[in-house]
Amino acid sequence: MGDTLDCWNIADLREKARRRLPLGVWEYLERGVEDETGMARNREGFERLTFRPRVLRKVDRIDLRTDMLGSESALPFAIAPTGAAGMMWYKGDLALARAAAKAGVPFCISSASTMDVEEFAGIEGTRWFQLYMWEDRELSYQVVQRAHDVGCEALFVTLDLPVPPNREYLWRNGFGMPFQLNASNVPDIITHPRWLAGVVGRYMLDGGLPQQANLPKALKHSVARGAKPGALFKQDNLDWDGVKKLRDLWPGKFVLKGVLHPEDARLALDMGADGVVVSNHGARAIDHAIAAIDALPAIVEAVGGRMNVLLDSGIRRGSDVVKALALGADGAMVGRATLYGMAAAGEPGVTRAIDLLGSETSRTMAMLGLTAVDQIDEAVLA
Ligand code: GLV
Repeated sequence: MGDTLDCWNIADLREKARRRLPLGVWEYLERGVEDETGMARNREGFERLTFRPRVLRKVDRIDLRTDMLGSESALPFAIAPTGAAGMMWYKGDLALARAAAKAGVPFCISSASTMDVEEFAGIEGTRWFQLYMWEDRELSYQVVQRAHDVGCEALFVTLDLPVPPNREYLWRNGFGMPFQLNASNVPDIITHPRWLAGVVGRYMLDGGLPQQANLPKALKHSVARGAKPGALFKQDNLDWDGVKKLRDLWPGKFVLKGVLHPEDARLALDMGADGVVVSNHGARAIDHAIAAIDALPAIVEAVGGRMNVLLDSGIRRGSDVVKALALGADGAMVGRATLYGMAAAGEPGVTRAIDLLGSETSRTMAMLGLTAVDQIDEAVLA
């Protein structure tokens, strides 16, 4: 596995991304909420789990193919929805989507993206769509229809942000929505000329700063302007009946993302969902949430086998993917890991991140004496 980027793990890609991005954009990608206890907890959850390998199992051929939500994936993970990709790389969402398609893994488009869902139509591969509900619910229903029209196979409704998260550093950096120039971000931006020219410069040549995507023309607003009435995300009045309405509208696979309580997973099953994502939003929603990997076993016990259970939040190595599968997940989702690759080097960086996670997953399985993803179970854990 050669590497022109000289990045040999996700941490290397992370470091490259950190150096390329202005602090404000970097912190948006990297940081959590409030006192930021959650990210370390997500990692500790994985690190606490240890393997008990088996030997002499003839592991010269490893099959990483996995079924997730009825779609075959070449690897047991998918790319999670991340709205701000377009601020890290010019049309960064396309870099993620194209690299995912080439690697044969599903890509989940974010409703909070700066690219309309139609812009992904020409990209082969499994596409999913993630939804936040706009204040004007009709807008959300229209976008869901558009996602279906461009061939998205699953709808993910993110539930773990009923109110906006408390990310104090964003306000300090002026990198909230709307984006505002201030005394700290002007020097930050001008000292990152590669990002300034390669991202902002290219958007300006293209007609202006990116806009909040998927809104009707009259409601679109650039990232430097506040949302127009009705065009803000608003989920504080959403309940089970509200998501049931989406379930009834959506003919494909329907997934609730951001579930940490087994009772909520049971309710998701009762309302007809096909899957849940066990996730604490990469520790970006509520601080002090249980690590997703720690929440997984109870949820698998409550609903496993009757619906797909995916997991995100904290995956940085193939061994993390194997641990999630060992505890009963049907697959993993990665957000920051592939964003680090993208922010470091665009599409080749995403490809590198996927290749690294894939080869680490394969190597871990071989070391454990496993040759197929469906052989991964709790017996591999000590
Ligand atoms: C949005 O979902 C974010 O985590 O920034």
